[in-house]
Amino acid sequence: MYNRSAEFYDAIYSFKDYEKEVAKLHELIQKHKRSTDNDLLEVACGTGGHIKYLKNDYSVEGLDLNPQMLRLARKKHPDVVFHRGDMVSFKLKKHFDAITCLFSAIGHLKTRRRLGLAVRNMSGHLKPGGVLIVEPWITPQQWRKRSVHANFVDQPELKIARMNISKSRGKLSVLDMHHLVATPNRVEHFVERLELGLFTQDEYLDAFRRVGLETSYDSEGLMGRGLYIGTL
Ligand SMILES: C[S@@+](CC[C@H](N)C(=O)[O-])C[C@H]1O[C@@H](n2cnc3c(N)ncnc32)[C@H](O)[C@@H]1O
Repeated sequence: MYNRSAEFYDAIYSFKDYEKEVAKLHELIQKHKRSTDNDLLEVACGTGGHIKYLKNDYSVEGLDLNPQMLRLARKKHPDVVFHRGDMVSFKLKKHFDAITCLFSAIGHLKTRRRLGLAVRNMSGHLKPGGVLIVEPWITPQQWRKRSVHANFVDQPELKIARMNISKSRGKLSVLDMHHLVATPNRVEHFVERLELGLFTQDEYLDAFRRVGLETSYDSEGLMGRGLYIGTL
């Protein structure tokens, strides 16, 4: 997962307005947080797109499972502490005023059981009054089978066409991401399979409420996918 594509991640997602997303995130954190400090953990931080702007207002640490993503994040943000860990099981000897898990990374957990464990684990790293914010993957109701998707990168020395057809298997969405990548040295093709759990709104809310978080749902969120917000 992301091993081959990590080095192209920022190019593929250059359309994402991380600065605008962080402005809204900051507003929500300050509205829902009852603890006093601003220590923030960005879980499944990827290459650190949100961290770039979160750094302005928070003392930020990042965590991700993928070593390639972490390598890129560390290179971009040498001043930030990054941890390698699984959101289901990581253990840090520190508690945070805010923990964020964005851009549907939570969907990678695939099962409702692992969703529950991750929310419990992240919540267990909050200070009293701290806030957990999770941007979900789409719900089974929103899922459109066999819809066709493409992203294109057109830089002077990098061209990418990434395409996929949405497929599903039971409660999993299965995305075979075909990448055709041209650099001055070669043109390569590779496929990365992403499998993401299609959880309902009730399943997300239940995971939050079970661990005692005072929970609300923002249907618009940062980019139309909604946000679950829980305060300890
Ligand atoms: C779609 S990317 C999102 C990256 C970043 N949050 C962003 O907005 O650009 C999903 C990220 O989740 C990470 N990830 C997937 N499963 C994970 C897990 N179980 N624990 C921690 N990170 C995970 C991947 O390595 C990847 O960096």
